[in-house]
Amino acid sequence: MLYSQLFASALRSLPGRELPTAVEALIESSFAISRARFWILRDQPVRDASGLRRFRRRLRRLLAGEPLAYILREKEFYGETFRVSPAVLVPRPETELLVEKALELLGREALTVLDIGSGSGAIAVVLALRSRAALTALERSRPALAVLRRNVARFGLQERVRVTAGDLFPRRRGRFRMIVANPPYLSRRDWRRAPRTVRRYEPRPALLAGPRGTEVLARIIERAPSRLEPGGWLLLEIGQGQRRAVQGFLKSAGLKEIDCVKDYAGIERVIVAQKNDLS
Ligand SMILES: C[S@@+](CC[C@H](N)C(=O)[O-])C[C@H]1O[C@@H](n2cnc3c(N)ncnc32)[C@H](O)[C@@H]1O
Repeated sequence: MLYSQLFASALRSLPGRELPTAVEALIESSFAISRARFWILRDQPVRDASGLRRFRRRLRRLLAGEPLAYILREKEFYGETFRVSPAVLVPRPETELLVEKALELLGREALTVLDIGSGSGAIAVVLALRSRAALTALERSRPALAVLRRNVARFGLQERVRVTAGDLFPRRRGRFRMIVANPPYLSRRDWRRAPRTVRRYEPRPALLAGPRGTEVLARIIERAPSRLEPGGWLLLEIGQGQRRAVQGFLKSAGLKEIDCVKDYAGIERVIVAQKNDLS
């Protein structure tokens, strides 16, 4: 069998939703070859038997609905490659909007930032790489913490990103110039309606917040003022239709919404709020 035939038959077996790039990625990882090499080898017979076995195993997992990122054990986010496992959420493109906004506000100053629910560390690592900020990456799940530590070390950021276990806020006192979070924000109903691959493979505590979906957002906002410096920013990723509720929480906490960023589908996705300069 030629590589081109392997590619074509794999593509035929997929139920339409998968892109040729997913099959290319599986071939590259299974045979340990680059994309360029794959195109050079296209018309050559496949001689690597163990690579072929690996490819078939991985293709079966993809066909069963497992996210490609878990099969490859990595995911690209903001131009960087992160290790992922089923212990962490697969970083999503819409979260790049939160990162973009945070970088805009941080500028070139060496400010302190808390990332709540860091997961793979995608947000914290990119902020550390692209700004001069000192990060605290906080996570509650033990298995997720292991992935987080691994990513921080892979990027050589142990000095800039302090990894800590906790429930929303670090136990150690201290205020931050910026708090960012992509917290769980699905309601029970959203969870039931989420794609099967999400429900089956992604960690439920990373996504499901409670009956309403806004429970974790409410807890973060309520406590944020006491952990923000005067004039500090709070950036939150939110779910579809949650802006109104979030505005209510912000008002009760005495924080001011200063921006709302829509995602590529036009959904209000990132809320930026600020603490009063004097408090
Ligand atoms: C939606 S995921 C976001 C992961 C990562 N920040 C990202 O954007 O890809 C939410 C993360 O928050 C963590 N988490 C949930 N509840 C938490 C809590 N009470 N305290 C700390 N982390 C929590 C979950 O384990 C999960 O890793």
